[in-house]
Amino acid sequence: MAKINTNYNKLSPSYVFSEIGKRVKVFSEKNPGVEILKLGVGNTTEALTSTVVKGLLEGVKKLSNIKTYTGYGDEQGDTRLRKALAELYQKRGISLLPEEIFISDGAKPDCANISSIFDESSIVAVADPVYPVYVDSNVIAGKKLVYIECTEENNFIPSPPKEKADLIFICSPNNPTGSVVTKKQLKAFVDYALKNKAVIVFDGAYVEYITDKSLPKSIYEIPGAKKCAIEINSFSKWAGFTGVRLGWTVVPMDLTVEEAGRGKINSLWNRRQTTMFNGASNIAQEGGLAVLSDKGQKECKKLVDYYMNNAKIIKSGLSKMGLKVFGGDNAPYIWLKVPNNLSSWEFFDKLLKEAHVVGTPGSGFGGKGEGYFRLSAFGHKENIEKAVKSIQENLKL
Ligand SMILES: Cc1ncc(COP(=O)(O)O)c(C=O)c1O
Repeated sequence: MAKINTNYNKLSPSYVFSEIGKRVKVFSEKNPGVEILKLGVGNTTEALTSTVVKGLLEGVKKLSNIKTYTGYGDEQGDTRLRKALAELYQKRGISLLPEEIFISDGAKPDCANISSIFDESSIVAVADPVYPVYVDSNVIAGKKLVYIECTEENNFIPSPPKEKADLIFICSPNNPTGSVVTKKQLKAFVDYALKNKAVIVFDGAYVEYITDKSLPKSIYEIPGAKKCAIEINSFSKWAGFTGVRLGWTVVPMDLTVEEAGRGKINSLWNRRQTTMFNGASNIAQEGGLAVLSDKGQKECKKLVDYYMNNAKIIKSGLSKMGLKVFGGDNAPYIWLKVPNNLSSWEFFDKLLKEAHVVGTPGSGFGGKGEGYFRLSAFGHKENIEKAVKSIQENLKL
């Protein structure tokens, strides 16, 4: 008799975005013709850059010719792309072997799948509020979770867990709070992991949004991190690949756990990927190579700057009204303290009703998100400006 994985019953209902959809639908039905301004989702909106498009077309062209056609590639990814990423790290002072870099179809699947190479009894530390994938994937895997709080008092940067944890997820720049860890704060996690023989999973999906040069763009900027950290990253928010799908995961050869020999974690992930993943799209990988070219990087920086300008518009527009806003300086998310002691959902309804603007209630990211609200800088500038203007003119504080 087939039985389901009952851990699925332990998941909290993935309720936020469907509830947002429902409330917006009800509002639109009651107010036909009213334009709804969306600052809710973290989805890219601007077109791919010309160099990247050329790269993707090159991939298609290769497939159209019998002499250059390729079918399945290496599960670990195209060697040229792995080398190009190793060069990117090298320019940032980090030496990695191409074999330490695994190309993926995006950061989300790797964030969810990484759990499978660790023991079921592992205790997993995640932030509260949190990018929900870290929580749900580990609940499905039957692992125990401990939460490390991100509050206004600690500038939304958690400290290493007080209790024992075997796996620690860190997201910097952070979704949803827009906070970014300093090298000192990250070092505290690396020290904790080395001392407690824990492994850190560092999600750097937004590192290209960092403009403050003192902030780390990779956990491997911290001495000792190669012995205790896996890094997951993505082309999604950097190059507009949310729909193209491409990312990578670094598993250093130096990363070992007690009972495993040198390079064991790297071999385990290699085994996992070669067994359960059939490689990223060859077309997407040509696109990734184009992103990493000098011209591609310059163009993608402009794309990131475009969204960061949106972040500035939101942050300064709301600050001027006297609202308390965090994040948005080195991250495309603005974390707003809900005014007048309203709950996150009460503020959602008020913002929709009065300003016709949609955001994401902070409580959807965890208990400590209650009383906060996430606004996303992903959108066309005109729409962002319209939304901010509408909030300034119509929101009654
Ligand atoms: C923190 C974080 N990690 C990973 C992802 C997903 O990245 P990808 O599109 O590469 O799967 C997101 C997407 O919103 C994210 O916010």
